[in-house]
Parts: sequence; C-alpha cells; structure tokens
Amino acid sequence: MKKIFLLLIGLVVLGLYGSALVSPIPSSIDYDLEKSNLGKKLFFDSRLSKDSTISCVSCHDIYRSGDDGLKVAVGINGKEGIVNTPTVFNAVFNFAQNWDGSAKNLKEQAKGPITNPVEMGHNFDDLISELSKDKNYQEEFKKLYNKKISKELILDALFEFQKTLITPNAPFDRYLRGDENAITPTQKEGYELFKSKGCIACHNGINLGGQLFAKFGMVGLIDDKNLGLYNITKDEEDKYYFKVPTLRNISKTAPYFHTGSVDTLYEAVEIMLYYQVGRETSESEIEKIVEFLNSLDGELPYGE
Ligand code: HEC
Ligand code: HEC
Repeated sequence: MKKIFLLLIGLVVLGLYGSALVSPIPSSIDYDLEKSNLGKKLFFDSRLSKDSTISCVSCHDIYRSGDDGLKVAVGINGKEGIVNTPTVFNAVFNFAQNWDGSAKNLKEQAKGPITNPVEMGHNFDDLISELSKDKNYQEEFKKLYNKKISKELILDALFEFQKTLITPNAPFDRYLRGDENAITPTQKEGYELFKSKGCIACHNGINLGGQLFAKFGMVGLIDDKNLGLYNITKDEEDKYYFKVPTLRNISKTAPYFHTGSVDTLYEAVEIMLYYQVGRETSESEIEKIVEFLNSLDGELPYGE
C-alpha cells in the first residue's frame, strides 16, 4: 500500500531536492477524438441519472473548476452525499480515483456516480435501454465501436472524454519549463516554503497530489462518516487515510477537504501546516504558500 511515513530527515532531503518530485502537465495527451466527443455527449446527458435531472456536468462544471463549489455533492431528489466533489480536471493523472481511492481508474470510477443512490441513482440495464432508443447514440456507438451500446462502451467513451480534461500551461508549469518570469517573486518564495515545509512530500507528481494515501484524522477534524482507505481494506491501520488530492487549480475548488468544511485556501494551508507537517508558521509564510498555489491555475480545456 502506498503510504507515507514522514521522517524529519526525509523532509530535509525533500526540501533540498523537491523540485525533481513535481513535473508540468503535458500540453496534450493521446485520445480518440470521435470517442471523446461521444463521451462528452454522455457527460452532459441527464439521462444518465434515474429521473433525468442530473448529468456528470451538474457536479463537475468543466467550464470553470471541474467541481460544483458545494460543501458536499447533491444528487437526485436533492440527496446530499457525505463528501466534497473533487475536480475532474487532471484526474487522469491520479494513481487512484475518489477520496478513499475506491476506484482504481477512470473507467471503474464512472460506474460509481451512475449507480450511487445519492448521486445519479440509475442502473445500467435501464440506462442502456433508454440510450438504445436514441437513434443518434445507436448509430454513433455502432460507427465507433461496431457494437451495441453496453456498460463497457459507455465507460470507455466517458474515459476518452475525461482524457481531454487536462489544464496545461499554468504559470508554475511554464516556470518548471524554464521561464523564470512566469511566476512572481512571492510565488517563488511560496514554492521554496512548499518544499522546505514538506508539503511536497505528499503533494507531488504532475498533479501535486494523486500519488499516495496519507493520514488526515487529527483532533477536531476527524470525520466519522468517512474512514478513508479503511472503507476498502477494512484494515484498522488504514483508518483516516485519504488520497492526497491534487493542488492543480486549487484556487477555484473551494470549499476544501473531503468534508468540504473549510472555505478558504488560507485556512486549508494553515491546517495542513499545523497538522500534516506539525509546524506553526507566520501569517506571511502562509500567504506566500497561497500565492504559490495560485500559480497552479492552468488553461481550461473548454475555455472560461
Ligand atoms: C451528484 C454529484 C456528482 C455527479 C452527478 C457525478 N459526480 Fe463525480 N464525484 C462526485 C463526488 C462527491 C466524488 C467523490 C466521491 C468519493 O470520493 O467517494 C466524485 C468523484 C469523481 C471523480 C474522481 C476524482 C478524484 O480526484 O478522485 C471523477 C473522475 C468523477 N467523479 C467523474 C464523474 C463522471 C464521469 C460522472 C458522470 C458519469 C460523475 N462524476 C458524476 C460527485 C458527482
Ligand atoms: C502527510 C501528507 C501531507 C502533507 C505533508 C501535506 N498534505 Fe495537504 N493534504 C493531504 C491529504 C491527505 C489531504 C486530503 C485531506 C482530506 O480532506 O481528507 C490534503 C489536502 C490539502 C488541501 C485541500 C485540497 C482539497 O482539494 O480540498 C490543500 C490546499 C493542501 N493539502 C495543501 C497542503 C500544503 C500547502 C502543505 C504544506 C504546508 C500540505 N498540504 C502538506 C496530505 C498532506
């Protein structure tokens, strides 16, 4: 199991050599254009929910932040879920999907919302027969896959579409590629703090997150509704372990944490500093880290 155990010495080493742990979002990745167009149609189609009121885009606004801006997700019939909606942007780079890592990839993930009673509350048999009545879908699936509409093909098309949801060319990425002026001096200081305070030990890789599980179960923030990785493994030691989330476009995805209980990025960073790396930090240092995080806003795949 990919978990992290923080040692002071590790932090020092990471602080010094941290840059090697992060990399820019590639400007494009391979995908099948026609299948992704079909996937986009499905992503926007409210027939994917039982009462045809909600589509993927209802909770994952791809014109803005890839999430819904709510504390916790609201599904069909106004049912509230128990976790904050993560962004779909750059999810393709995560090592597993969902806060507790319960889906190992994007295809497996998409089954979840469609059938989850507090999200879209549907079932595949009914969904397939509904979509099969639609001549356009029938023809498109036939043309692209030469097969009838099925669960696998729906998931495959959604997957192709989600490959297009990447946000390259953030100021920080341009900086990583050698453009010294792409980020401000304050953001550079914030990045140095991000490394020296050990944030990068957990928030690394292309997504500055999405690489491992880490414990998030400190006094006052313990969430008994969701026990994290334990949900999957039922191993006591996995209680309160969550996937380290991406920090890409983090300025746009408030409220924060899997509980959606924190409204500002400043406060989220303060909590991380205090609980995850055990350090009290000055206000100005927190502000610098927040400034750095603002440099992670990339170009939206479908414009603003
Ligand atoms: C009712 C709101 C809602 C709808 C509708 C919805 N999602 Fe989500 N989505 C969520 C929530 C909440 C989570 C987090 C679930 C968890 O961690 O247990 C999530 C997680 C995800 C993730 C994982 C991201 C990550 O970083 O772990 C992806 C990808 C995703 N959804 C794609 C989709 C797709 C594709 C659809 C349509 C088939 C969809 N979602 C429909 C609320 C929604
Ligand atoms: C020990 C690993 C670890 C370290 C070190 C760490 N984080 Fe986190 N971070 C996490 C985990 C796990 C979460 C998700 C917690 C949850 O909601 O379940 C998280 C969540 C966050 C969030 C909220 C993300 C969201 O989408 O809601 C921000 C912002 C953040 N971290 C920034 C930082 C900063 C800045 C630092 C350094 C001061 C840092 N983290 C250090 C593991 C870590």
